[in-house]
Amino acid sequence: MLRGARRLSTAANIWAKIPAAPPDPILGLVAAFKASDAPRKVNLSQGAYRGGDGKPYILPSIRAAERAIVSEDTDKEYLPQEGLAAFGKLASEFVLGTDSAALKEGRVATVQALSGTGALRVCAALLKEVAKVDVIHLSQPSWGNHHKIFGAAGLEVRSHRYIDASQTALEFGAMKEDLAALPPGSCVVLHACAHNPTGCDPTEAQWAELADLFLAKELVPLFDAAYQGYASGNPDVDAAAVRAFEKAGALPLVCQSFAKNMGLYGERVGALNVVCASVAERDAVFSQLQGPILRPLWSSPPLHGARIAAKVLGDVTLRTQWMGELKGMSDRIISMRVALRAELERIGAPSPAGGGDWSHVDSQIGMFAFTGLSAAQVDRLREVHNIYLTRDGRASIAGLTSPDVPYVAAAIKEVVEAA
Ligand SMILES: Cc1ncc(COP(=O)(O)O)c(C=O)c1O
Repeated sequence: MLRGARRLSTAANIWAKIPAAPPDPILGLVAAFKASDAPRKVNLSQGAYRGGDGKPYILPSIRAAERAIVSEDTDKEYLPQEGLAAFGKLASEFVLGTDSAALKEGRVATVQALSGTGALRVCAALLKEVAKVDVIHLSQPSWGNHHKIFGAAGLEVRSHRYIDASQTALEFGAMKEDLAALPPGSCVVLHACAHNPTGCDPTEAQWAELADLFLAKELVPLFDAAYQGYASGNPDVDAAAVRAFEKAGALPLVCQSFAKNMGLYGERVGALNVVCASVAERDAVFSQLQGPILRPLWSSPPLHGARIAAKVLGDVTLRTQWMGELKGMSDRIISMRVALRAELERIGAPSPAGGGDWSHVDSQIGMFAFTGLSAAQVDRLREVHNIYLTRDGRASIAGLTSPDVPYVAAAIKEVVEAA
């Protein structure tokens, strides 16, 4: 105990009665994985890409951009609240497309943010404090941090149905029914592609139906675009839903992250784009973001990562190289899905829904497979086999490598049969 602690009056020690907060479910697993000294262990808990060798992958295009920036001997001055202008322009074009009517007409307020999480947090503050929106609607399930981010900004979180009873496929009818029942002006979070945690996205036709529904029911679409380019390997394909909504006349808010698609996790590079109906509305929203929201929050966003992203997005050679690397990451994830499914079916692992059909493992999309395993089965995977995934049965396929596929498949078979 602190020497002389008794001299501190209880009123001055404001920490005396503070209980420890529970660990974050995902970050807690990562810490447990790192602490484990098991000779064979597999981390499928966190959405971070690993190369075929199981190691973090630094994209060569990103390294090249970084070297170029360093050699340019640039300054380290503060950015304005809204961030690096070149980055904001390129980021908004990346997600909305260079032929976006809203961009051409100057109706999009874009600000740089601390990666996707920061973009969502700024967006939540804008909704609550400026637009006076009190409720946010999330799919059930959704990325766990969505609940915390919107809750921390003071919004009430409500959920609509998304996944079917087998926990492996989208229940589109139920989703639509729940959304159609919302009051006009309701704000709904949509995962632009590679839905986290389920890996189940609406089809192109279903997205078109949703855009019609949002227009008819006057709902506000808030796209979380954390995986653009990662799901299919093609950023235009992965942005199709966002662009379809804009084209249909909806006014989407779009939160972007460059953590996964550029491998810039720790650099915290992201953006919030607010598509408005007019230039005057855009200017008002932009000024609200600059002053009331961003100035007291972080005042000025980080410079280095935004410079890297702008360099890669804005340089034809680097951008082409990056597209190839992005496709390579996406292809590796897809090949791991195919391999895991094939191995599970080859060894006759009973699937959670009954029978031995594991087709959902390769029909789902993006970084995650929603395996359908129960929390008890996930616990056994960790305790007996040292394989870590979140308790909702979500496995990060980006963390799987070829040598681990037979080990993981055999372990899954064992826990399903033991249940
Ligand atoms: C659905 C979703 N949104 C947003 C993010 C934000 O990530 P970051 O803050 O690292 O950009 C993630 C990261 O896992 C995610 O899965």
